[in-house]
Amino acid sequence: MKALILVGGFGTRLRPLTFTMPKPLVDFGNKPMILHQIEALKAAGVTEVVLAINQQQPEVMLNFVKEYEKKLEIKITFSQETEPLGTAGPLALARDKLIDESGQPFFVLNSDVICEYPLLEMIKFHKTNNAEVSIMVTKVDDPSKYGVVVTEEATARVESFVEKPKHFVGNKINAGIYLLNPSVLDRIELRRTSIEKEIFPKIASEKKLYAMVLPGFWMDIGQPKDYITGQRMYLNSLREKSSQELATGDNIIGNVVVDESAVIGKGCLIGPDVVVGAGCVIDSGVRLFGCTVMRGVRVKEHACVSNSIVGWDSTVGKWARVVNVTVLGKGGHVADAEVYNSGALI
Ligand code: GDD
Ligand code: MG
Repeated sequence: MKALILVGGFGTRLRPLTFTMPKPLVDFGNKPMILHQIEALKAAGVTEVVLAINQQQPEVMLNFVKEYEKKLEIKITFSQETEPLGTAGPLALARDKLIDESGQPFFVLNSDVICEYPLLEMIKFHKTNNAEVSIMVTKVDDPSKYGVVVTEEATARVESFVEKPKHFVGNKINAGIYLLNPSVLDRIELRRTSIEKEIFPKIASEKKLYAMVLPGFWMDIGQPKDYITGQRMYLNSLREKSSQELATGDNIIGNVVVDESAVIGKGCLIGPDVVVGAGCVIDSGVRLFGCTVMRGVRVKEHACVSNSIVGWDSTVGKWARVVNVTVLGKGGHVADAEVYNSGALI
């Protein structure tokens, strides 16, 4: 089976992290975002993943692919746009890569969502319903920033699909995970076009679009606040599935992941909901909660980081406070005793 991951866009909402790293390679839970997806695809029997890219920094992506093709034993190829083709155009561009002799359906994934990826169940769902397209859906409190689906109660068939609705139509939203029959490719022209606005509504009107309700947690982690919330959900699910990956000790509270190469000083209090990356040095007396501290970060004595993201190789000075959805890009520097609050970008 094959899969395509939509890896385009500029990741502006995750700046300054995305100044130095394409959004799909930004770490989440101590590994690049799309690695969570590629691992799930591999586990569901996918043998080839096409990354639909349109951005700068292709060499960073190239290095990533080289490293993980080997590690995961899966074929990863690129389909590169010369101009952004939206969320459907890239499928037309990669048409030849997606069709195989067996006529099997293929997966398409948005690259900035995190969940448990029940892909084998999705294949079953798709076959049972004899769908042309199956999409994963989930319920959220504020559906206005997503694609909303209205389904027929008894059958899971989608009656209508409305992208970013202005008025309330329902709270079941598109989770950004699709299974498509190859016939869908005949519906997509090679131009900038939106799968949510132009393709799904048409297929829904022909009664061939089905929605599977995603069990477990789900989050679009393309914005700092949602990234932090998504991390809490992800760590919670790790607790349920494989709690041996979580740190333990007197100085640990709740769900915390600490890379084995990180050094934690005396008298720190870490957690809940914290991820500490490889090679980090956390000095004594530091307080961390609800935050990510990425690879190579140094947090000096008695500093406090909460509800924030500290990008690779940054330094947080002694007694400094980085709080309230602050994001430090790669190599960010917070001086001793300095305070960053409320969405500061460094
Ligand atoms: N290759 C390529 N080219 N990829 C693109 C392009 C493009 O021109 N534009 C966007 N993408 C990729 C993004 O990287 C992301 O993985 C995916 O397409 C969706 O784009 P977003 O910009 O993240 O869209 P969104 O979050 O506003 O809405 C989408 O996701 C929601 C779920 O998170 C829609 O699919 C909604 O219906 C959905 O509810
Ligand atoms: Mg998104």
